[in-house]
Amino acid sequence: MDISRTAAVRRTPPRRTAAGSGAVLRPVDETDPPGHRAAVVEEDAEAAGSRLLPGADPPEAGIPAVGDGCGAPRAVPPSDGGRVPRAKGPQPGGRVRGVGAQDRPTPVPAAPVDRRPRADQGDHMETTPSTPGLHPLAAAEFAPASTYLNTSLCGLLPHRAVRAVGRLAQELADGRAGGSGDWAAVEAVRASFARIAGVDAARVAVGGSVSVHVGLIAASMPRGAEVLFPEGEYASVITPFTVRGDLVARFAPLESLAEAVGPDTALVALSSVQSSDGRVADLEAVRAAAAAHGARTLLDASQSAGWLPLRAGEWDYTVTGGFKFLLCPRGVSFLTVGEEAQRTLLPMHAGTFAAERLWETTYGPIGELAHSARRYDEPPAFLSYHAGRQSLALVEEVGTEALRAHALTLADRFRAGLEALGWEPVRAASAVVGVPGLGGCAEALAADGISVSARAGNLRAAFHLYNTAHDVDRALDAIERAAGKRA
Ligand SMILES: Cc1ncc(COP(=O)(O)O)c(C=O)c1O
Repeated sequence: MDISRTAAVRRTPPRRTAAGSGAVLRPVDETDPPGHRAAVVEEDAEAAGSRLLPGADPPEAGIPAVGDGCGAPRAVPPSDGGRVPRAKGPQPGGRVRGVGAQDRPTPVPAAPVDRRPRADQGDHMETTPSTPGLHPLAAAEFAPASTYLNTSLCGLLPHRAVRAVGRLAQELADGRAGGSGDWAAVEAVRASFARIAGVDAARVAVGGSVSVHVGLIAASMPRGAEVLFPEGEYASVITPFTVRGDLVARFAPLESLAEAVGPDTALVALSSVQSSDGRVADLEAVRAAAAAHGARTLLDASQSAGWLPLRAGEWDYTVTGGFKFLLCPRGVSFLTVGEEAQRTLLPMHAGTFAAERLWETTYGPIGELAHSARRYDEPPAFLSYHAGRQSLALVEEVGTEALRAHALTLADRFRAGLEALGWEPVRAASAVVGVPGLGGCAEALAADGISVSARAGNLRAAFHLYNTAHDVDRALDAIERAAGKRA
């Protein structure tokens, strides 16, 4: 294999990505100037210009919104035009004033209008047959000021996490004897995530962002190694590899990623749930193909951990941002490293927190690094970790299965409502719903107090514990007003 080319990207004919994202993969000419190497071009998206929600995360928002949905709002059809009629009067899950100082969501006893998905709409229907009521912990821990369907951008902080930040912030303002935070909070976060991910805490390293964890893995790859990604994968998973300039990056459609693994593949890197449209990868097939070819595996669970079971022990590496479904603030992230992979992964940013015996080596090189994956830790952002301890405790109290059932039921209700309006949401058993062509509606929804994202032309909505059937119906109403019904 000729490895002299810089960040060579395997040539493939230009093609549209799956699920109507509209992204065009431009095969990169190996004679392109370095800045153009490994380019994945979102041509139609760029042409449309950015239409991000105020406050949207610019890195993920690099894919601007396009779509015919809201460019020119269509005439809204008569209210009963094929649409499931909506009940009048107070809505279950609606927010009522006068409960303490804040609006509080009321429990959802049952759906007054049957927006439930039909039996042919998803393979998990048997497990999520009805609209669930609001979980008591949701009522106690959240009081969103808007209809918040944007957990894929960042999750809401529970009250207990906000209080923990406040306490530490006050102590830091007062002058604190024990330094900038408690190491016990960091270890509690590590242990909590280990339970959620089904691995021993000795396999978990903590940090502040996904791309830094991925950078560590990328730095460990031998020159010329081939790394395989799904087309349209999140940039933080790809870029630490492509910037090296001496690796081979190859892309294949998510749906045929397993078949694309070959004898030259050193690593397959993918997200369990795609950020752009909520598609869920066939993880078993990818792992089996990688095992058959002796390739290592890297899973990004940022869009799934919390609602989709994560068996981190089945992967050589997993990376997870804590600030989405795990409800932590930015600054909490996780890397898990399998035993075999730990032999070759160099702890390149090891600092004082990477020592086997903490606080014993402050000056000079650390003689004995942590025997566990803690040697890959980044020094912790304590405010985030004090909050994260509370957030993960809540996620554990709720449980992945309960959260999954709740989120999927709402996601299915949303998909069914969209289909009744003539739109074609991406079909997936996913808490993240992508709607091709509707990305341009995000701004109109924001004006209605409904927070969603626009990604690669898709409208993206995500459902968590704090969402109700009423939130789904509000969003559907707003979409109907903004984009109308499709013929
Ligand atoms: C799939 C995925 N991975 C990673 C991230 C975050 O990456 P980083 O922490 O490098 O910004 C996000 C969202 O922001 C994401 O959707």
